[in-house]
Amino acid sequence: MTDIITLDGPSSSGKGTIAKELSKKLNFFHLESGLLYRTVAKLILDKNINANEIDAKTINSFDLDCLIDVDRRRLVASSDIYTSELSLLTSRIATLKVVRDFIMGFQRSLGIRYDLIADGRDMGTVVFKDAKLKLYVDAPIAIRAERRYNQLKGIEKNVNLAQVFSDLVSRDKRDSSRTIAPLAVPLEAIIIDTSVMSVEQSVTRILLEYKKDS
Ligand code: C5P
Repeated sequence: MTDIITLDGPSSSGKGTIAKELSKKLNFFHLESGLLYRTVAKLILDKNINANEIDAKTINSFDLDCLIDVDRRRLVASSDIYTSELSLLTSRIATLKVVRDFIMGFQRSLGIRYDLIADGRDMGTVVFKDAKLKLYVDAPIAIRAERRYNQLKGIEKNVNLAQVFSDLVSRDKRDSSRTIAPLAVPLEAIIIDTSVMSVEQSVTRILLEYKKDS
């Protein structure tokens, strides 16, 4: 049996950074599920597929195994999947059952092979319901928008804070209100507020909880 720790939360809550640190400390595989949704959105865009008409046969031909970096215990993709345009397209295709089913299968197959730190929106509520430890990572929207703004400045020209804020509101709304696997706090989750706790404090707290249960 593998050990799985899940971290769910909205965009730019800090869950990815915490997950990365935890995976280094525990030597677990880091499953960044947003990267999978972004990669599938990019493939749909590049292949000129109409997202509303995508079927299981087409999506099952997508290769996600090539994203696995076994040595570094993480997934890898190019940085152009993090642009604003692709973020919005991703949250649209993430509402589709055929897309979620395909990505869920891949995520669960990773969970059979590796101990995981899994971050995303539905890790503790849907994909890994039996995870050993569940976290919900959050921060006020103004703080998250500023973080996202600083991140985008590194990859895009003409970034505007007001636009970043409104994109984040739309994405949060779509992610939390979709019918399938909406963003929600898992019942037994510990809540981490990254506006009051640093990455280091969050990681220490999570490691303590994990060791308590081991
Ligand atoms: O985490 P990140 O911001 O990279 O995720 C991009 C988008 O992928 C989210 O806004 C959401 O629509 C989708 N996603 C999801 N379920 C996950 C992870 C990401 O629907 N577990």
